[in-house]
Amino acid sequence: MYDLINPATGAVFRSVEMTSAEGVDDAVARAREAFPAWRDLAPADRARLLRRFADLVEAHSEELARIEVENAGHTISNARWEAGNVRDVLTYYSAAPERLFGRQIPVAGGLDLTVAEPLGVVGVIVPWNFPMPIAAWGFAPALAAGNTVVLKPAETTPLTAVRLAEIGLEAGLPEGVLQVVPGFGPEAGARLVEHPDVRKIVFTGSSKVGQAVMAQCAARVKRVTLELGGKSPNIVFADADIEKAAASAPYGVFDNAGQDCCARSRIYVEASAYNEFMDHFLNACRGVVVGDLLDEKTEMGPLISAAQHERVSGFVSRVPAERIAYQGEVPGGAGFWFPPTVVTDVAPGDEIQCEEVFGPVVTVTPFFSEEQLIELANLTRYGLSGSIWSRDLSRALRVSRAVQAGNLSVNSNSSVRYSTPFGGYKQSGLGRELGPDALAAFTETKNIFIAL
Ligand code: NAI
Ligand code: MG
Repeated sequence: MYDLINPATGAVFRSVEMTSAEGVDDAVARAREAFPAWRDLAPADRARLLRRFADLVEAHSEELARIEVENAGHTISNARWEAGNVRDVLTYYSAAPERLFGRQIPVAGGLDLTVAEPLGVVGVIVPWNFPMPIAAWGFAPALAAGNTVVLKPAETTPLTAVRLAEIGLEAGLPEGVLQVVPGFGPEAGARLVEHPDVRKIVFTGSSKVGQAVMAQCAARVKRVTLELGGKSPNIVFADADIEKAAASAPYGVFDNAGQDCCARSRIYVEASAYNEFMDHFLNACRGVVVGDLLDEKTEMGPLISAAQHERVSGFVSRVPAERIAYQGEVPGGAGFWFPPTVVTDVAPGDEIQCEEVFGPVVTVTPFFSEEQLIELANLTRYGLSGSIWSRDLSRALRVSRAVQAGNLSVNSNSSVRYSTPFGGYKQSGLGRELGPDALAAFTETKNIFIAL
């Protein structure tokens, strides 16, 4: 049994049984058994089941949101959005079974066509930062394409995934089509990765584990999608709406207490606007509402665990005190609260500027030219997302093209929409999730030539 801890209070509120390697084998066997019938279901019927699943998620969204508040320490407003995102992702991909088109390609001597076939059993390994959305980004397109899924949630946050699988069954998904196996990464997760009957792994988590997962998959030429870390820039040119950029910057990094792979944790401001930006930005930081998770007005909660608190505290303790330009306040007590923290006067090679902190910590750095800015922005092994604030749209697009990252936004800090592709350049990952092309990551292309 594994104790689940409420991050806001530090108190154990429940314990769950962890799945052994043998338990994972059993789940994979059931998924394999369920596969042919699920694959062969009429496309419209598979679509209907996914729509019914989406409808039931909607009906249970408040329950799911409240589970996440207790288990993951999310604010109620965020958790409601997350449950709604699961509904939307299921609805979006419910249109896919009937639109899984192949192509007819002109060839000599016959007719050539391609078909998209499901892979079989797909393993989805989910982190603790966004337990519901990241689970759905894996299982919804995988199921829509005709695969069956075994999903391993993070140790600390299994409850919404377990509940979603129950809701799926209630919606009419056949037994074995979507299973959730709470378990330890090195045991249950590793077994899923090495299991010969699992044809593909979708992994979201740390770069370190992601690299190991990829190496394991290589041994079997297993398909793999990786969503790893980030250290994303938020770039503010002097010609931008500085007030707007500054007002939104805290939420670009402190949302979900900074435990977001898209967190804009490096702010770069054109030097001539630096002071003006800082005035508005620090003011906006003071306005971030931290506290009671069930209050709709609350904007930031605690970190997920004592371990994460220690990690984040470690990063900040290594920053010289005079470089901490701002630190907010958080509730006392035994929860894993960490205050919003702003660091200035950092050099490009500083740890705080290079490593993914995964906490509410941001650096702010002036820049003097577009060329210098592009160099600074790309001075990272990551490349997940980024923002560019400017009224000069040519420049905004030029810089968007120059930043090596998968998800850029102009005059906005939002990265994630279920209808657009999401994923990283460089060590931020491999492959793309969401959007119209995600089905390609869950199918094989078969080419058939017919002699005429
Ligand atoms: P992690 O990478 O260990 O955990 C992510 C998932 O992988 C969990 O479900 C875990 O059980 C599983 N896992 C762990 N070891 C495994 C293995 N050997 N084989 C298969 N699955 C395995 O991340 P962790 O340790 O919880 O967080 C550490 C740091 O990683 C964070 O501080 C953050 O910087 C980064 N991180 C980034 C995420 C992102 O969304 N980019 C998500 C989670 C963590
Ligand atoms: Mg780990």
